[in-house]
Amino acid sequence: MLEVKGLTKRFGGNLAVDNVSFRVDRPMMIGIIGRSGAGKSTFLRMMNRLTEASEGVLAFEGRNVLPLAGKAKREWQSTCAMIFQQFNLVPRMDVVSNVLHGTLGRRSTLATMFNLYPESDIHQAIDILDRLGIAQHAEKRAEALSGGQQQRVAIARALMQDPKVILADEPIASLDPMNAQTVMEALRRIHDEDGRMVIANLHTLDTARRYCDRIIGMRDGRVVFDGTPAQLTTGVARDIYGAGADFSEAATSTEIRDHHDIEAAEIRNAEVAI
Ligand SMILES: Nc1ncnc2c1ncn2[C@@H]1O[C@H](COP(=O)(O)OP(=O)(O)OP(=O)(O)O)[C@@H](O)[C@H]1O
Ligand SMILES: [Mg+2]
Repeated sequence: MLEVKGLTKRFGGNLAVDNVSFRVDRPMMIGIIGRSGAGKSTFLRMMNRLTEASEGVLAFEGRNVLPLAGKAKREWQSTCAMIFQQFNLVPRMDVVSNVLHGTLGRRSTLATMFNLYPESDIHQAIDILDRLGIAQHAEKRAEALSGGQQQRVAIARALMQDPKVILADEPIASLDPMNAQTVMEALRRIHDEDGRMVIANLHTLDTARRYCDRIIGMRDGRVVFDGTPAQLTTGVARDIYGAGADFSEAATSTEIRDHHDIEAAEIRNAEVAI
């Protein structure tokens, strides 16, 4: 389904991604981990064609997508929707309009300028918001929502493109543990129910282990681990992060550890509701 061969990106003399190769035979949920500067974002950006690769092949369903230009390139970009750490919503615009922006690729400039959306698109947007548990916020400005809700709006916008692949660059890095969990659960459900491939750069080990079928570890631009969560032992993780014997998994953890934290969060939420 996806075949990456010898993928390389040089920024001047710096090898950001160094001869990366792997293949994925079926839609999976894949987590990419590694320390800062390992090349995780550069890889996703090359896949989405936001960054041009220096060398290599990235074939999806048998076709190398790296040489695509013009309309074919734009079509590929909507096939692999991207989600970012900072959500990239229009803060002052309402939630539904933000989601409808996901249809930009298939509408005329004039229709876009005057915010003219077909009724079927509006219904679809609301259905997707409903599926993500945030339809009740459809008319609010995006900026009025919590981080986790905003990231779900961004996921809804991505789903409007009906992508085969969702690329998520640190989707939960700005979120508290409760919101992080909701967003990861949403991505997992989209994978399970729709059969879409999800590739997410994640900065915590336990999130990768908990939600992904396969984990790719990068170090200095290279793939140094490619396996299942069970194969990702502490020793392997230490190697990926290039850490010493004092390496602690807890340092990369966002796991909600005990009921006390959940209770405290529930009380806070209840207070907000009142
Ligand atoms: N536009 C750019 N111009 C020059 N160098 C770049 C550019 N983008 C990334 N790099 C370099 O490429 C390398 C990989 O960066 P990248 O952003 O892919 O890492 P990352 O694994 O996503 O890190 P982080 O966890 O901090 O997001 C780094 O050395 C970075 O400085
Ligand atoms: Mg990055």
